[in-house]
Amino acid sequence: MTTAVEWSEDAFFEAPERSSIDGGTTSIGPLWHGASPRWGHSMHTMCSYHGMFPAKLAHYFIQRYSQPGDLVVDPFSGRGTVALQARVEGRRVIGNDLSPLAYVLSRAKAAPPSWSSVLEKLATVERSYRRATAGDPDVSNDIRMLYHPNTLRQLTFIRSHLLKGALTAWGPQTLMIAGALTGIMHGAHRRDGSSQYLSISMPNTFSMSPTYVAKFIEQYGLVAPDQNVFECIRDKVARLYLDAITGTDGVVFAEDAAVLLSSRAIKRRSVDLVVTSPPYLQVVNYGTANWIRLWLLGVDEVGRDSGAGRKTINAALDHRHTYATYRHFILRALVGIERVLTKNGVAAIVIGDVADPGKEAVSLARKIWDDVGGETGLELLELIEDDLPVDKKVSRIWGDTKGQATDRDCILVLTRPGSNATAGVAIVDWDEPYKDAGPDAAHERLRRLS
Ligand SMILES: C[S@@+](CC[C@H](N)C(=O)[O-])C[C@H]1O[C@@H](n2cnc3c(N)ncnc32)[C@H](O)[C@@H]1O
Repeated sequence: MTTAVEWSEDAFFEAPERSSIDGGTTSIGPLWHGASPRWGHSMHTMCSYHGMFPAKLAHYFIQRYSQPGDLVVDPFSGRGTVALQARVEGRRVIGNDLSPLAYVLSRAKAAPPSWSSVLEKLATVERSYRRATAGDPDVSNDIRMLYHPNTLRQLTFIRSHLLKGALTAWGPQTLMIAGALTGIMHGAHRRDGSSQYLSISMPNTFSMSPTYVAKFIEQYGLVAPDQNVFECIRDKVARLYLDAITGTDGVVFAEDAAVLLSSRAIKRRSVDLVVTSPPYLQVVNYGTANWIRLWLLGVDEVGRDSGAGRKTINAALDHRHTYATYRHFILRALVGIERVLTKNGVAAIVIGDVADPGKEAVSLARKIWDDVGGETGLELLELIEDDLPVDKKVSRIWGDTKGQATDRDCILVLTRPGSNATAGVAIVDWDEPYKDAGPDAAHERLRRLS
């Protein structure tokens, strides 16, 4: 039997073998599946995100349907993959997400400051920590059980420092520190007991429920490591800056996607490409899956059914729809996309199939398109079926939801009637000119660690 501790290691697949490909394919060929799972800019590894798609998928559509200088938009930007990849490929970019976690990650990636300025800011925070008299932190047991007391004192100090201002007012350095820190809040320990993460050994991609964690801490005698948070952030930031950051800063909003797409913030007929993935139908709860990281960002008690933070997040995010309300939600988003797309613009919309337990999987993308396509003013250029190996599918390892993700996503490739965009496979350049061109000192720091 797989124990929770082994299982948590299985669930961590951020760093697969460099030579491996992911074993998936699509209905029109391997496309992005031909590239290594490690493909992409080093900054993509900032923080894992439940329901994320890989950078190579974003790259495929960016190369296939846009040119340098074009405007690329992701209205449900999650961990900011499209924002970063479009930027380093010379596109202008707009991201948007209603989750505070996704907003922080997307903004940090859309407009990263220099590596040295992040280190300077962190040193300032560390100096104030040394000067402060740290008492026993005022945190719930849900948080306390995850960390060593020394680690928790530093964490809560940094948290209070961050929360002095509203998220939307944070500067680029603060966003980068917060983004890097969310990425190391929890994760599996190495076999030798060391860890780049701050918590007891647990999955990195999502947070298990507090009750579940408490049970396993007791059952397996899990011990929290005495981690120096400032040092761990410095190591993490060095990893993020291994590749060169080029391009112009992107803009990120924290709005309802449909409202944003129909507002003056994005001009009519101004967007060349949308690459996005709306929340799937009741598959992932973006609050519970991230309750520890959301605590860091000031949303408390998301891990508890009746917690204040859980209510706030559930009220804001569209992850609890019935099919009828989901249909309406997607229609509003598609109408907004129609408004902003240029004459030859394209939207690639990734939607996972869903299945009720014991029932056959439904192609949600096909069903949605059949039901609302005619009301959107858009045309279906192509529907790409994307088959993922089951063990690589993040939402597959989370059982606590009503509908279940399956091993298939579908991508609706949409355009305007009369556009000159074409369907089918195109030759895509997989070169990464930014690779390993970040500051030498970041490389040097990591060499010392290995
Ligand atoms: C499938 S995830 C996107 C993942 C993203 N493609 C990635 O790779 O990280 C869907 C996102 O939609 C966000 N969301 C849910 N309802 C929203 C709304 N009404 N407006 C904007 N964002 C919303 C969630 O917070 C979540 O981050």
